[in-house]
Amino acid sequence: MPQNIPVFAAPYAPPDEAFARDLLAAKPSSEVATATQALAQELLAGMRARRGGIGGVEDFLHEFALSSREGLAVMALAESLLRVPDDVTLDRLLADRLKAGDFAHHHSVSDSLLAQACAFALGLSARVIAAEESPLVIVADLARRLGAPSLRAAAKQAMRLMGAERYFNASAGAIKAIGAAAGNTKDRPGISVKLSALHPRYEAISRVRVLAELTPRLLELARLARANELVFTVDAEEADRLELSLEVFARVLADSSLKGWKGFGLAVQAYQKRALAVIDHVAALARSYDRRLAVRLVKGAYWDSEIKRAQERGLADYPVFTRKAMTDANYLACARLMLASERLYPQFATHNALTVAAVITEAGARENFEFQRLHGMGEALTAAAFERARIPWRVYAPVGPHRDLLAYLVRRLIENGANSSFVARAADPLTPESTLLADPYALIGAPEQARNPRIVAPAELYSPLRANSAGVEFGDSAALSALRGEIDAARGRHVAAISSQATTKKPRACVSPIDDAKIGEVAEADAGAVDAAMEAAHADFRDWSATSVETRAGAIERAADLIEARRGSLIALLQGEAGKTLDDALAEIREAADLCRYYARQAREICRETALPGPTGEENSLRRIGRGVFVCISPWNFPLAIFFGQIAAA
Ligand code: FAD
Ligand code: 2OP
Repeated sequence: MPQNIPVFAAPYAPPDEAFARDLLAAKPSSEVATATQALAQELLAGMRARRGGIGGVEDFLHEFALSSREGLAVMALAESLLRVPDDVTLDRLLADRLKAGDFAHHHSVSDSLLAQACAFALGLSARVIAAEESPLVIVADLARRLGAPSLRAAAKQAMRLMGAERYFNASAGAIKAIGAAAGNTKDRPGISVKLSALHPRYEAISRVRVLAELTPRLLELARLARANELVFTVDAEEADRLELSLEVFARVLADSSLKGWKGFGLAVQAYQKRALAVIDHVAALARSYDRRLAVRLVKGAYWDSEIKRAQERGLADYPVFTRKAMTDANYLACARLMLASERLYPQFATHNALTVAAVITEAGARENFEFQRLHGMGEALTAAAFERARIPWRVYAPVGPHRDLLAYLVRRLIENGANSSFVARAADPLTPESTLLADPYALIGAPEQARNPRIVAPAELYSPLRANSAGVEFGDSAALSALRGEIDAARGRHVAAISSQATTKKPRACVSPIDDAKIGEVAEADAGAVDAAMEAAHADFRDWSATSVETRAGAIERAADLIEARRGSLIALLQGEAGKTLDDALAEIREAADLCRYYARQAREICRETALPGPTGEENSLRRIGRGVFVCISPWNFPLAIFFGQIAAA
């Protein structure tokens, strides 16, 4: 075993501005930029001049970009068709659904494929499809104009583009088959796997289990790939899985059976702020084990879900960039790092002519690298680029049964439907060359413009109404261990819940439903205790009711802050008493804080709406009489959040 095995550690979501500063400082010289532009123009001209169109998805988009919303609607239709198990059913359903009559009665087909397509596309394509129109209406309109047969052909074409014709059920079977089919060809084909497909709980919170169970599976496939002389790549997936994927990768790499093999590698996403750190880490691993590793550089296919996840989890910042120009510039920075490393075999996966031109220019005389494209995409670009510089292109084709390709298809739909996508823009002959080939460094402008102003920080999601509750990304090991530390520190602390000192009932032990460990004591109230509590509450109520709404709202907001600040103790209780998983317990803390902030806001709002002119100024006018004393009973499964919700509302 080599000494000093590198450990990956990089901030999960550092500020964008620092990156922009570095990226702008490393901007290519004007000679390099000019050469890149000239080459990109040449490639674009080559693409657009190609007889019979650009090919693949680009052609499809061109044909159906009567406007892009229609292309997208057909794609959405195709997506829903992918759910159909066999061709005969598929043809019959298509014929059935695309009859003009069906469109007219779309209200009655709510559970039909078309309605699924509609719901699907509405969820995904808000950017392209206006609120008042649905894909159903668009497709109906298209069917009227083109006729059902053309539409059917279009939908099937979209389907064919999205899925490879042949598929295999198991990666192992695929490796053997590809290996056998490759025979003795010099340029070895490869296979890529998604770790999420190899383990049902491939998530940071299940780290121990994943390392124990997934590592041997990946190792077995890697050995098989090696035996078949295939290039074997671990695809890049969601940001929260990055650390775990690197750990699994490093463990497989460490296995002596793979010694001397040059075909192992992984994909790195340039939209992630940790991309450069990942490349450094992979190069360090390669040095430690004296290997050469293949690195496929992509921009990243999960952008929309990364943004949504960071918001949903209430993170401090995004793990990905929010401006495409930042991703484009970071791609180039990563490319430079990869090309400079003797240990890495660079594989550049992109369908963007400017990115290809920038890489070729950057590579200069270096030969040992390749480009990659997806099946059904980037064909014209490949042809133009290969003509110019004889750099090999590898084609990535997704294989598997239709239902397994859905997620892949969704990513392509989002990607090709995005108005920032190079492929989508290139397909539109009206998009000027200057727009398509705009310099990302010029687009970034200045470090303080590194962020997309229309994408607010996750904490600001509900601004100006209220703050989003603060969450924790479990895929960020530093954040997860900080949280676990707080919970561990709180465990073992004695908890005594006494309903009233006046009770005559004897305290009894509370035990955890998980392991019967004693977590504290409770003494139930007797009738006297209840009376005393009610009396005290009525006395408090008079004061509380005489307090200004602003003060009351402020108190509830402070409660929210305190709930968050004491999350460790509260989670320890929730886990101990209700047996909650960490994810559920954290969600409950956040819900409690959200409810407090929500009701504080509501109180102010209602107060403002109903404000009467007061005799002694604003404070008086904001004073509102409370509604009385409330008794709240917390449900066992949400002892904190629902209890707090009721209390805060009252
Ligand atoms: P472009 O149109 O130049 O760029 C589009 C990309 O820019 C988006 O996909 C996104 O990454 C980024 N972007 C868009 N808007 C923004 C924004 N507002 N802020 C920041 N960034 C933005 N993807 C994976 O995630 N994992 C893989 O393992 C993987 N393997 C691939 C293998 C191959 C052979 C290929 C060709 C692609 C692969 N991809 C993978 C997909 C890849 O990540 C890109 O989504 C796709 O190739 C589009 O990038 P582009 O350079 O062609 O297009
Ligand atoms: C994806 O699955 C191609 O790996 C990329 O979207």
